Amino acid sequence: MSKISELSRKAAAEGMVLLKNSERVLPLTKGDEVAIFGRCQLNFYKSGTGSGGAVHVPYTVNVIEGLRQYPEVIINENLLKVYQEWVKENPFDDGGGGWAAEPWFQKEMPITEHLVKEAASTSDKAIIIIGRTAGEDQDNADVPGSYRLTDDEINMLKKVTDYFEDVIVVLNVSNIIDMSFMKRDYKNPIKGVLYAWHGGMEGGNALADILLGTINPSGRLTDSIANNLFDYPSHENFCDKKENYYTEDIYVGYRYFETFNQSAIMYPFGYGLSYTTFEVSNKAFIVNDDYIKISGTVKNTGNLPGKEVIQVYCRQPQGKLGKPAVVLVGFTKSDTLQPGEIWEYTLEVEKSTFASYDDGGYTAYKNAFILEAGEYDFYIGHDVRNLVSIGSYIQELKVIERLQEALAPRKPFKRIRPVLENDEITIKKENVPIMNIDLEKRMKSELPEAIKMREGNANLESVEKGEMTLDTFIAHLPPKALGTLVKAEGMCSPKVTAGTASAFGGVSDELLEYGIPVLACADGPSGIRLDSGKTASQVPIGTALACTWNTKLVEKLYEQIGKELYKHRIDTLLGPGMNIHRHPLNGRNFEYFSEDPLINGLLAVAVTKGLEAGGSTATLKHFLVNNQEAARNIADSIVSERALREIYLKGFEIAVKQGGARSIMTSYNPINGIYAASNYDLNTTILRNEWDFEGIVMTDWWAKVNHPIQGGKGETYHKSYMVKAQNDLYMVVDNHQATEFEKDDILEAYHSGTLTLGELQRSAKNILKFILSSPSYKRKDKQDSKKRFAPKQSAKYKLYPAGTPIEAQKFTLEIKDDGKYQVIVSARYQSMSAAQSTVNIRINDDIAFIHQMHGSKADYKDFSIVSFDLSKGFYNVKLEFIRKGIEVEHIRFEKAK
Ligand code: BGC
Repeated sequence: MSKISELSRKAAAEGMVLLKNSERVLPLTKGDEVAIFGRCQLNFYKSGTGSGGAVHVPYTVNVIEGLRQYPEVIINENLLKVYQEWVKENPFDDGGGGWAAEPWFQKEMPITEHLVKEAASTSDKAIIIIGRTAGEDQDNADVPGSYRLTDDEINMLKKVTDYFEDVIVVLNVSNIIDMSFMKRDYKNPIKGVLYAWHGGMEGGNALADILLGTINPSGRLTDSIANNLFDYPSHENFCDKKENYYTEDIYVGYRYFETFNQSAIMYPFGYGLSYTTFEVSNKAFIVNDDYIKISGTVKNTGNLPGKEVIQVYCRQPQGKLGKPAVVLVGFTKSDTLQPGEIWEYTLEVEKSTFASYDDGGYTAYKNAFILEAGEYDFYIGHDVRNLVSIGSYIQELKVIERLQEALAPRKPFKRIRPVLENDEITIKKENVPIMNIDLEKRMKSELPEAIKMREGNANLESVEKGEMTLDTFIAHLPPKALGTLVKAEGMCSPKVTAGTASAFGGVSDELLEYGIPVLACADGPSGIRLDSGKTASQVPIGTALACTWNTKLVEKLYEQIGKELYKHRIDTLLGPGMNIHRHPLNGRNFEYFSEDPLINGLLAVAVTKGLEAGGSTATLKHFLVNNQEAARNIADSIVSERALREIYLKGFEIAVKQGGARSIMTSYNPINGIYAASNYDLNTTILRNEWDFEGIVMTDWWAKVNHPIQGGKGETYHKSYMVKAQNDLYMVVDNHQATEFEKDDILEAYHSGTLTLGELQRSAKNILKFILSSPSYKRKDKQDSKKRFAPKQSAKYKLYPAGTPIEAQKFTLEIKDDGKYQVIVSARYQSMSAAQSTVNIRINDDIAFIHQMHGSKADYKDFSIVSFDLSKGFYNVKLEFIRKGIEVEHIRFEKAK
């Protein structure tokens, strides 16, 4: 087994969360005969859909294949055969292969009483697998087949519990689902429930390891599971297609439930069972000026080896700001402990971890992170609800960090807050402090000085050798070159590894002459998406990784992904995804980690460090508050500055400051009226000026911008707004179009003075700094990006001469004269604008280039992006439709004049 498969299997298993295990129905024991229900035993989901799931894996393991590795457990083969036959007749429905077309669930095999009765006559235990997916451009919905169970599934639960006493439900889901099925009356209650999530290519093996107990469950929930969807405080605003008011403010997930509505919780944040038991004793609680030191021991008091998670929570005084009842402030995970074994833990919790942000001057310190005066109590929790006190101290009011107002809302609205009256917390509404600064003045006063332009030659290599400063090098780049450098090309640029998301850096001949190499990036986050159809490893989804609470393991796993990226010449992975799980229906929650910012941040640190160790880099995304897929490039997220700073920015801040992240992707949405890509406070005030971030910021693909000060409607023309905000790179313009300036205002704005040379140079500097320390730049074996093909002596398919429009998908091209031939593809892709599709063009079996399109209403039109030097002879050409959707009317090879 390869290292990445091995680590992936471990991580998938450690991320699984056991929520119920009555009468020790698990682990399965030697000789158990199990009847497995649910079609997902064969079609076990490996990941969600969209860019975050689109990895072509070398293999996947389903539940049956996983269990077959344990011959001590007997699978009910008759039942399995019935499922196998049925799945043959009812194959996996990918919705036709189009973008966001895959349904949330797969039609379930309706089961008869007879079938269950027969299975129960030989089998002791039943395992029911329920599957769900979701993804980009496709939120889940509160309907059967998505958040809720379908009638077929309910019927399956009912019939199986009628005949089996030992029933275990395994949830192969991308997101939490409605758990009310656990409260129904069954003849025999469901004894075991396991969130198995989507475990990547090793999911089936990992599940078998957990079911058999070779890996003892040690996953803990990183989200709160409430009784009802409407219990989540964001519910009333979630999915608003125009303006999404974050009225719940900082009270997201357990911060809300523990403060205001404990009884709404079915499974609390941090919850998860093990097959063994542990005793946690805290021995020391030391309070220093800036941090708290906690240490103690964990003893395995049961009779199976296992791991325990130490979760540390803090309860703060309500003070003037109001606080969540408890907040997670630190965590660590033990190694595998043998029965009786003791493990010592030490945790240092910076006081800044639990500081609150005063966005309204409620204390004397407006726009500062502070600790209010009072008693701070600390606990170790089995979960957020089951807490054991480990110490407390009295804190005087302390200013942790004085900042300036940034990103505050422009529109008035009300948010919730707790109020302590007669020892009881009640929920109140208060006006959110709104924007009070002159952003135009701020931007003007911080305009970067221009580096004086110079004439003559310069090469980036001289900067690397220390012969020229980066500033002097930049001085040699004329405005047009600078304007090209801030644009990336894609998707599937022929300039970089086939099938990747974008090429950036040296995307023009001019830039290449300055010694600026071309770099590649690829999705992400759970493996490398190669639209060429080439395979890559896929690890568990973000939520599953977070549920491991094991940052060391995640770091090691991503080191392997880093190595794969290096091998494929990809400079940065478009991940980790770090948006907060604000609501259970967000379609991309699976790519993200948790409802808690600390978990989010520390997991992102692990991914970032791992990727760097493997030879590539991470791109944190989506910066910021992209918490729904519906209208994701229109809906304005209207959020208080406090909620932004304490919840939504926090994880990114941790990943930048502790993880050394050097690439970030902004989100599609506006934040308080200004699109992320043209948002100065986001990209400059907070990210660079406060956090000292020195890397690159890229937009999301084909992102919109609006005026950085006045706001307004989103569009893609004014790319100068992006540069002004210090979002360095526009992702993406069409291939070979970065040198064109008709579709953007960059040069126009430069000439009219609304975009300064200094601003262009500032982004160029960020990009070049990244490039100088990028894997591509450092590697010795530079790539020759020019493709060459040797002619064949004879034709393999029907023959077409160069110059003719060819409608066939397989043909032999005849070249009569040596020369440069421009390839023209007449194609259309009539789909939603966010949809992506590709067609591979192979010449003599090699991928010559990939034609990529995103959806539009447009009819067939000519695209001409590559040319090849071809000499006299025959070339076998094939069109390969890996991602369905594009229609090619014809292709022609025209001799260049
Ligand atoms: C997604 C990003 C992704 C990019 C490139 C966008 O649609 O939102 O997360 O990295 O496409 O595939």
